[in-house]
Amino acid sequence: MRVSYDFRESVVVVTGGGHGIGAGLCRAVAKAGGTAVSADIAPDVALNQYDAPGQIDVKMVDVGQAESLQGLLRDTLASYGQIDAFVQAAAIQPRQAIEEMSQETWHRVMNVNLNSLFYAGQILMPHMKSRQSGAIVAFTSGLAQTGWAKASGYAATKAALIALVKSMAKEGLPYGVRANVIAPGITDTDLFTGPNDDGEQEFFRVRGGGVGTVDEVVPLLLFLIADASESLTGALLSRDLIIHPPPRNVR
Ligand SMILES: NC(=O)c1ccc[n+]([C@@H]2O[C@H](COP(=O)([O-])OP(=O)(O)OC[C@H]3O[C@@H](n4cnc5c(N)ncnc54)[C@H](O)[C@@H]3O)[C@@H](O)[C@H]2O)c1
Repeated sequence: MRVSYDFRESVVVVTGGGHGIGAGLCRAVAKAGGTAVSADIAPDVALNQYDAPGQIDVKMVDVGQAESLQGLLRDTLASYGQIDAFVQAAAIQPRQAIEEMSQETWHRVMNVNLNSLFYAGQILMPHMKSRQSGAIVAFTSGLAQTGWAKASGYAATKAALIALVKSMAKEGLPYGVRANVIAPGITDTDLFTGPNDDGEQEFFRVRGGGVGTVDEVVPLLLFLIADASESLTGALLSRDLIIHPPPRNVR
């Protein structure tokens, strides 16, 4: 049994689409004939050159700033006339103890990881409601359940995103607008290797259930944005294995 997707005439906006899981999704959307708008603060222009039936439109956006993200969405609507799906993959994870973290850093994490979905929703919900169609996907993390030393802001945003997405699902339900959240599990990207020191990486590899790949996560995202999941909204799709607290010698 095999599944394949046809995204011709579909427009998918992917924040954090410059690298990691978001970039993998942009390539998959273009491969399926669609238009992926890769919205990233550090865009990878080489994504333009991906040889596929569809296209990747690379944009520089700071999702933590309402004007920047909402401007990108308005420009996308002006250029393409529609947004069929929005995937919020952009995230940051500065590692600092609470007493070391500045209020500025805390608010930046809230803006980039969490408030961005609210900013986007202000443009997306009216558009998708009027079309009686649309899919929104955000990423949570296992750390939303466990917490993690020095990752308080990140963990808090990833927990709050679940409630935000479930509320969007309730608001969108009468209009055919869907919102789901995915926990991708530990995945070998910059967001795994950057914040986690060698001891933590070893912990996740050995005791945290292992480290997955972008290619393992992308098919689940394609499912969540496609009509294959049209009866699914307000759901949390998890590849996350239960993570036990780290050994005491992990600092
Ligand atoms: N990798 C993991 O182990 C893991 C585990 C659980 C959840 N997640 C979630 O998966 C999603 C994708 O992460 P990834 O692993 O591909 O990480 P990644 O670091 O490879 O990609 C994140 C992207 O977000 C972009 N970004 C950061 N700040 C931005 C901003 N202000 N505006 C626009 N773009 C910005 C980065 O430039 C980068 O391209 C994230 O939401 C992350 O929280 C990842």
